[in-house]
Amino acid sequence: MQMLIVYHSDYGNTEKMAHSIAAGAKAANTHIKIQLKQAEHTTLADLIDADVLVFGSPVHMGSMAWQMKQLIDRAAKLWKPQELAGKLGGVFVSGGGFGNAGGGVELTMMSLHSHFLQQGMLVAGFPMDAIGYADGGLQWGAYARSANAQGMPTDISEKSLAAARSYGAHLCHLGIKLNK
Ligand SMILES: Cc1cc2nc3c(=O)[nH]c(=O)nc-3n(C[C@H](O)[C@H](O)[C@H](O)COP(=O)(O)O)c2cc1C
Repeated sequence: MQMLIVYHSDYGNTEKMAHSIAAGAKAANTHIKIQLKQAEHTTLADLIDADVLVFGSPVHMGSMAWQMKQLIDRAAKLWKPQELAGKLGGVFVSGGGFGNAGGGVELTMMSLHSHFLQQGMLVAGFPMDAIGYADGGLQWGAYARSANAQGMPTDISEKSLAAARSYGAHLCHLGIKLNK
C-alpha cells in the first residue's frame, strides 16, 4: 500500500502537519510506503502510483493555495482515463485569520474533496471518536490554526499535530482495508 502526501506550505505550518500525518501512518503500519511531496514537484505518475492520496493546503483568501489548484488542474488529464478512480483521498488544512476560527478551512477541505470525487475517488473524513479529534479534527479532515484570535502568527499546537498523526493512522488503516 502506498500513501502519497502532497502539500503546499509557505511558512511551514502545513508542512508540519504533512510530516505528522506521515508519522502517524508509519506508526500504524511500518510496511506501507509513504512519500511526501510538495505540490509543484508532484507528477501525474506520482498520483497514479499511490493508493492513498492525502492533500494539504493552507487557507488562502478562503480557499486552497494556487499551487494545489494547479496540481488539480494538471491532474484533469487523468479524469477521462479514470486513472485515479477507486483510490482513497484524505485532506488537511492549516489556517490563521482573525477570531477563533479564521475563515475557509472547511471550504478548502471540501474543495479538495470535490476534486477527489470528480476523479471517482473515495473520500475519508476524520471520525469524531478518533484520538485528537477535539483538538485538530473536523468531519472533513485534520486542521490546525497558526494564528491567535487577534490574527497574530503562533506555532500550530502540539495537540493539533497529534490529531494529524491520528488522522494519518486512520487513513493508513482504511487504505489497507481497501487494498486487501
Ligand atoms: C495570501 C494568504 C491568504 C490567507 N488567507 C487566509 C484566510 O482566508 N483564512 C485563514 O484562516 N487564514 C488565511 N491565511 C493564513 C494561512 O492560512 C495560515 O497562516 C497557514 O497556517 C499558513 O500555512 P503555511 O505555514 O503552511 O504556509 C492566509 C495567508 C496568506 C499568506
